[in-house]
Formats: sequence, structure tokens, C-alpha cells
Amino acid sequence: MEFIKNIIGEELNTFEKKFAESVKSQTPLLDRIMKYIIKRKGKQLRPMFVFLSAKLHGPINESTYRAAALVELLHTATLVHDDVVDESLERRGFFSVNAIWKNKIAVLVGDYLLSKGLLLSTDNKDFEHLQILSQAVKQMSEGELLQIEKSRNLNLKEEIYFEIIRNKTASLLSSACAVGAWSTCKNEVISNKMKLFGEKVGIAFQIKDDLFDYGKEDVGKPTGNDIKEKKLTLPLIYTLNKISAPKRRELIYIIKNENKNTQKVRQVIDTVVASGGIDYAAEKMTAYRDEALAILYEFEDNEVRKALEELVRYTTDRKY
Ligand code: IPE
Ligand code: IPE
Ligand code: MG
Ligand code: MG
Repeated sequence: MEFIKNIIGEELNTFEKKFAESVKSQTPLLDRIMKYIIKRKGKQLRPMFVFLSAKLHGPINESTYRAAALVELLHTATLVHDDVVDESLERRGFFSVNAIWKNKIAVLVGDYLLSKGLLLSTDNKDFEHLQILSQAVKQMSEGELLQIEKSRNLNLKEEIYFEIIRNKTASLLSSACAVGAWSTCKNEVISNKMKLFGEKVGIAFQIKDDLFDYGKEDVGKPTGNDIKEKKLTLPLIYTLNKISAPKRRELIYIIKNENKNTQKVRQVIDTVVASGGIDYAAEKMTAYRDEALAILYEFEDNEVRKALEELVRYTTDRKY
């Protein structure tokens, strides 16, 4: 992270001010909630990917800043909505928006953030940004919906899991890299390559996130929540395919009928750990990380590329 801050630290500082400015509202309730959200900012990985992807291909400009803000606005909007969908009461180490203000308000706050992103782009005629990011917004909704649909029958193939995470998570990271590169080089071949790079990073990123759910460490949001929501992620999918039929039936029964029972959820987690589901998912994650790095290595070696490599490694080594 130190090295990354050396390369884009100043840009990130400026970005934060611009971002806070971009969500201001004259409506008192909205303004209060926006202040709450800004105070509890996340890791800002997506803006970092925007800036580094941009800087790899040319000097950062005003449109790069707007691209970063658009991406972070969309990300924040989807998090606010995702916590409603997942009935999750904790985010970034504090109460989620729905935990404090309830679902009705959280839904509208998510829409507000989305519209602020759209306005930022249309006001500045950044139509390419919109074209790249609208695709991601569509895919994110599709991914979350496919996930809900699949949580109903609990028979999830690995292939579908990857389709879900490619849509709900990798699409935005992928667009972040593409739009960043586009803002400085306006070259479709390069921007498409960065898009593919971002997609690989995004898949590794979500596998890591899904692994957190099986851990005991404090990651600023609830763990064990995916099982409670009947979300089958890679460690569990692997385990269900590997264990004996009676054991599988037992796990499925728990996930279906006893998913709010903390002790039973613990039993599922222990089985996943014992059957190697965690190790398996970690291996897959590393493979995607390496695919991303291989694409990155196609570009000229310099300080910015080194920083991007560090950011990719952070994505899979991070503690929260
Ligand atoms: C969380 O993303 C949502 C997922 C796609 C898993 P981040 O972990 O990047 O969230 P913040 O912005 O740092 O809180
Ligand atoms: C990612 O999935 C959510 C989005 C892409 C919006 P999760 O539901 O796993 O994300 P967290 O764990 O709540 O951050
Ligand atoms: Mg969630
Ligand atoms: Mg998660």
C-alpha cells in the first residue's frame, strides 16, 4: 500500500474531496446519510484501480477523476442496496444504512447515489464512461438476481457460481480498469485488455470476500451471513460435491431449515474447513490473480505497473 500511495496518493486525496462534493444534498435527511457514508469510507479499491489503470497509459486528467467518482458512487449504491437484499446490519465496521434508517430509506439512498453518478457523467458529457459503466450496473443486478434464484434450490454448479460473481462483482472492477485506461489513452484495444485484466481481479476479489464469510476475524461486516442467506459460495459448493450423500443431505437440511441457528451454521463451516473447501477456493483465487498478472505483464514494466501489481496482490492478501 505504501508504494501505491507514492504513485497515486495525491490523486486519491483530491478524489476524496471531489467525491464528498459530488454527493452533497439540499435535503436534510439525505445530507445526513451522505455524511454518515462519507465518514465510513471503504478501502476505495475501485478508485485506485481507475487511477492506476489510467496512469499506466497516460497522464491523469479531470475525466479520470470523474470516472473514479462514478465508479465509487455506483459501488456505494450497490452496497446500500445489497445490505437490504442480504438483510445485513453491519458495513465497514458500523451499522449499515438499513440498520439505522430501515429498508425504505436505504432503497431510496441507493437510487440517489446511482442518479448522482449518472448526473456527474451527463453534466460533463462523459458518454463513454456511461457506456462502459451501464453495462456493469446491468450485470450487477443480473448477478444478484441469479444468486437469489439459485439460493432457492441449493443445487449450484461451480460454473454458475462463477457466472454470478463475474456479474455481481467482477463487472464493476472490470469497468473501473477499462474506464480508467480509456480516460488517458482513448484506445479501444488497450481499454479492452484492461477490462479483461479487471475481470480476473474482480473474480479473485469476490472469492476472497466469500472466504471472509468462513473466517472468525473481524472484517467490518458479519461473517457466516452467506449461509444464513442460503448463499452457496465456492468453499461450500466444493464441499457439497465432495462429501458422501448422507452428509450432503444433512448439510442441505441445515442450510434450508436451520440457517439461523448459529451452532448449526458453525457445523456447516467446520465441515467446509475439514473437507478442504477453503483451500480449494483459495487455490482458485490465486489462479485468477495470476491470470490477471499475466495480462498486466503484457504492458511495459514501470513504476505504475508495479503499483498495479501490488494492488492486485493486496486484493487477495487483504485482511478485510
Ligand atoms: C464489498 O466491496 C462488496 C463486494 C463486492 C464483495 P469492498 O470490500 O471493496 O467494500 P468497501 O468499499 O471497501 O467497503
Ligand atoms: C457482493 O456480494 C455484493 C455486490 C456486488 C453489491 P456480497 O453480498 O458477498 O458482498 P458483502 O459481503 O455484503 O460485502
Ligand atoms: Mg452482502
Ligand atoms: Mg460477502
